[in-house]
Amino acid sequence: MPLSTEMRLIDPSRLPAHIGIIMDGNGRWARRKGQLRTQGHLEGLKVAKKIVKAAADLGIGYLTLYVFSTENWKRAAEEVGFIMGLVKQHLKAELAFYRENRIRIRHAGDPGGLPPDIARDIQEACEDTRTFEGLQVILALNYGGRDEILRAVRRLLSHGEVPALTEDLIRQHLDNPDIPDPDLIIRTAGEHRISNFLLWEGAYAEYYISDTLWPDWTEADLAAAIAAYQQRERRFGGIS
Ligand code: FPP
Repeated sequence: MPLSTEMRLIDPSRLPAHIGIIMDGNGRWARRKGQLRTQGHLEGLKVAKKIVKAAADLGIGYLTLYVFSTENWKRAAEEVGFIMGLVKQHLKAELAFYRENRIRIRHAGDPGGLPPDIARDIQEACEDTRTFEGLQVILALNYGGRDEILRAVRRLLSHGEVPALTEDLIRQHLDNPDIPDPDLIIRTAGEHRISNFLLWEGAYAEYYISDTLWPDWTEADLAAAIAAYQQRERRFGGIS
């Protein structure tokens, strides 16, 4: 990857360990081009691969991509079917890419609410890449922050008698308790909303809004977001 001006602004010793991205604007991108929304998602998938590679090359530890929320089922059946088909095809076609780059795939979200073949494909991709020690890409698929907390509490209660309830106990029952909280959450396409993404984990994340639509995103946008993050003073509720 050529070193862009934005890349040179990054301090490699202070990278965010975990970045979350709300990939928004596929539909608007397509509409502006007079194309179908599905074309926007197709382009969005290409960009996702490019950004995954850039994050891996930079040495980011974890990248959570908000692919499909628990609320996205409200969309037209054709669009939902198209996105699910894209995910399925991606997991099959890009396994070699993940292997080559030693990238581990993880899932956040409720597998129970997914079409069974997609739930199986994602489980297999997680299994196939389990030992890779490079970037971990967490696909948030049928994911909602409230739903994740609800499922965590249900899991906790299913053990029978619950000891004194603590934050740590709830955290241990979230979808991926071993993954550190996101340091930086990016939303593309200019909306200032969290849309049910990583509600528990994002409590002290730094938020970065990019006006650029997701299909227009490049490695330079990722670098600019990281550079902006590195300018922030993180106090975690304390004082500096
Ligand atoms: C938001 O655009 C995007 C989505 C609902 C997710 C679709 C994401 C992809 C196809 C990338 C998948 C990536 C992987 C790695 C499987 P929008 O439709 O809400 O845009 P709009 O707000 O402009 O209508």
